[in-house]
Amino acid sequence: MNLNPSSTHSERVTLITGANIGIGRVTALRLAQAGFTVFLAGRSAQRTQAVIDEIHATTKTSNKAFFLPLQLDDLDSVRECAALFLARQLPLHLLVNNAGLAGRKGQTRQGFEMAFGVNHLGHFLLTQLLLETLKASAPAKVVTVASRAHLMAYQGLDWPALQQATRSLTGTREYGVSKLANILFSAHLAKALAGTGVSTYSLHPGVVDTEVWRELPGFLRPLLRLRGLLTPEEGAQTTLYCALQAPASESGLYYDKSRIKTPSRIAQDAQLAEQLWHQSLQWVKAQS
Ligand SMILES: NC(=O)c1ccc[n+]([C@@H]2O[C@H](COP(=O)([O-])OP(=O)(O)OC[C@H]3O[C@@H](n4cnc5c(N)ncnc54)[C@H](OP(=O)(O)O)[C@@H]3O)[C@@H](O)[C@H]2O)c1
Repeated sequence: MNLNPSSTHSERVTLITGANIGIGRVTALRLAQAGFTVFLAGRSAQRTQAVIDEIHATTKTSNKAFFLPLQLDDLDSVRECAALFLARQLPLHLLVNNAGLAGRKGQTRQGFEMAFGVNHLGHFLLTQLLLETLKASAPAKVVTVASRAHLMAYQGLDWPALQQATRSLTGTREYGVSKLANILFSAHLAKALAGTGVSTYSLHPGVVDTEVWRELPGFLRPLLRLRGLLTPEEGAQTTLYCALQAPASESGLYYDKSRIKTPSRIAQDAQLAEQLWHQSLQWVKAQS
């Protein structure tokens, strides 16, 4: 990386997870075009390079986009990613918790259910590790890409199941739980950050034609297509709205189609959000 860590950095800085493809790729590209220096955190430098090249080509710059290694299914990798970013001594104005998987079954390296561990717990830890920098960079934002799939998790959180391998046949039930956790996390984070100048948003991007469905059984995919899929460009719009336009006074809320949307009753349960926050804190501490 050719950013000088000791230089004073006047541009706004964002870190986006899962930006090599899909919604994250478009988000990274548009934020760079809006003037942000972009850190693209993901699993493969090689698969992220095309996006970095695209950013540099369209912004006519050569040091606006950088790769950070991140495997959200391994909390040690999350710590390493945060440490690499923090070592740059840059501000952080926008964290976009975008990466996600659906339908991949099993457990993360530290034994959490795969969707919960990647979609929620990895992002929970990453956010915690970057909080002080976000606060020091205020006004700043944390945008978490959740999903309408949280509606499937109407029974709430089955705590023991979160530390076991995926049990459902398709993994979609666990995906719904992980997306409920995203909304609860963003809502409680807003409370924890009240008065700091850091605001938080969660959102449903729409049903988007991306690779997120690659692990789902073949028989489910035609059902998705029947619903009319958005392009990744269209799917990135609500993330970009939250990142660039949503007011700080709406911190903690959930968005759909670039508008505030009331999530499920259980996703509004402040006590459950607090419980998830404290449990997640304990889990990531226990793994350090
Ligand atoms: N597409 C939809 O219809 C839809 C609907 C609602 C919500 N969402 C949410 O939107 C977000 C973006 O998804 P997308 O649709 O753009 O899907 P996508 O094209 O599959 O992109 C997902 C990104 O997440 C990354 N990722 C997956 N597992 C990871 C891990 N263990 N560690 C680090 N990165 C990981 C992927 O990296 P690799 O390329 O290395 O796998 C990829 O960059 C997700 O949170 C998803 O749940 C999508």
